Amino acid sequence: MKETILLNPIKLTRYDDRIRLPQLREKVTTASAAATWVKDGMTVGMSGFTRAGDAKVVPFALAERARHEQLKITLMTGASLGADVDRTLTEAGVLARRIPFQSDPVLRAAINRGEVMYVDHHLSETVELLRTRQIAPIDIAIIEAAAITETGAIIPTTSVGNSASFAILADKVIVEINLTQPAELEGLHDIFIPKPRPNREPIPITGVEDRVGTTAIQISPEKIVAIVITEKLDSSSTVLPPDSETAAIAKHLVAFFENEVKLGRLTESLLPLQAGIGTIANAVMSGFIDSPFKHLRMYSEVLQDSTFELFDAGKLDFASGSSITLSPQKSAHVFADIARYKDRLVLRPQEVSNHPEVIRRLGIIALNTALEADIYGNVNSTHVQGTHMMNGIGGSGDFARNAYLSIFATKSIAKGGRISSIVPMVTHVDHTEHDVDILVTEVGLADLRGLAPRERAQVIIRNCVPSPYRELLEEYVAEADQRGGHTPHVLEKAFSWHERYRETGSMLPAAQP
Ligand code: COA
Repeated sequence: MKETILLNPIKLTRYDDRIRLPQLREKVTTASAAATWVKDGMTVGMSGFTRAGDAKVVPFALAERARHEQLKITLMTGASLGADVDRTLTEAGVLARRIPFQSDPVLRAAINRGEVMYVDHHLSETVELLRTRQIAPIDIAIIEAAAITETGAIIPTTSVGNSASFAILADKVIVEINLTQPAELEGLHDIFIPKPRPNREPIPITGVEDRVGTTAIQISPEKIVAIVITEKLDSSSTVLPPDSETAAIAKHLVAFFENEVKLGRLTESLLPLQAGIGTIANAVMSGFIDSPFKHLRMYSEVLQDSTFELFDAGKLDFASGSSITLSPQKSAHVFADIARYKDRLVLRPQEVSNHPEVIRRLGIIALNTALEADIYGNVNSTHVQGTHMMNGIGGSGDFARNAYLSIFATKSIAKGGRISSIVPMVTHVDHTEHDVDILVTEVGLADLRGLAPRERAQVIIRNCVPSPYRELLEEYVAEADQRGGHTPHVLEKAFSWHERYRETGSMLPAAQP
């Protein structure tokens, strides 16, 4: 069954330009016809990274099919999806297993009910596991593209993520050509695939701007079984604008870096910056606009509004990432004329943007976000109250473990003060005390470098925690000290704050509502 999509003559011209290998134009079909290539039980690799460059039409056809037939898949992506894809697939019951990251509330709830098996990976690792057949192989890839070249190579759109390896490793590939994605995206990407072991060579990136691969995903054109034409826009970023607390966090970090420059440890262009997903990291990066630093560079994962604010403010010289995810206003500004930024941008596969080897070589300053941290510097970025998945570890572990400086930021309280983000013991550990150099809240900054656990507890409580949680933590530490140990704890009370929150809706004792 093959239906050819009807396009008006203007679009037809654009569409011919977008499929430059003529024989592939015969593969153009509808989303529902393309979706029939996906069978029950398959592992599907879809493009998409932090709501950018995701396959946006074939997944809906899969959800539609699931209304009438048994259809369960393992879905792998680069990272989180937009366009309500995760929500729609969850509601249709299509997702048996989801890898390696998500941030959708409906999918999150299904994961926390135990209905979808979620495997939360370090984002640099998924394709390594696939390539070495340590996890089930990809049967089919569904990749959004700006165009297909004369040789049948795929030009990705606003993200690379895992798309290149998915397309290379899959038996069959469905391409969604998105006419709304600017053709000028061609040339933005740098597709580098590491050689198999035991003959693997170093990734030859020695500067953030280095291009070491190709501008398109090279696959055999015979693998492309269907092409669907779409005009669906990327979803916008959901980050909130900076507020007084994120501004305070940024101020503490700027003061910290000024001191590092004064001490001769860094220059005024610092070292390449990585900023994690979410409101806090984006807002903190925006705070660098009002800083004395210049000629900054980013070697990051997702490029958010703040990247382009820093470009426009003349602060940032170059940004390397794996995706571009912007608010509606910033998106209109940036994609109206992407050529303005193109020579200062590169998008890489996430195994390269997040590669421990490159992160360590370049000396990245990594800024990620904690849900909660404990008095010794362990960080929980994923599990609300220790059990309920929020989003996933994403790339934060790739960067934190290997960075020159690993910074974690969080607001000191959540839910109107009913939760303290600094607790006696975190209920889940994503980043151990060994991977956290700096902890910063709106209250202040704790420099943990070179400190033993007992010293770290003092500086975190003093610098990062507001009253009355500060006094409560001081009491806890005093009692723990009586028990002795290298990392003292009162184990039976270590999670008492979380238990109190579960029972009363607040971590504060009853006398302090
Ligand atoms: N317990 C329960 N909820 C908490 C909490 C805690 N200790 N701390 C924060 N929250 C809630 C907030 O209240 C907020 O809830 P809301 O959405 O209902 O308003 C939500 O968590 C997000 O917190 P916010 O303070 O706005 O931070 P953020 O948007 O910057 O997100 C993370 C923070 C940790 C969820 C997010 O950064 C993340 O998923 N990180 C892991 C992946 C990662 O770091 N990737 C980057 C690698 S490049």
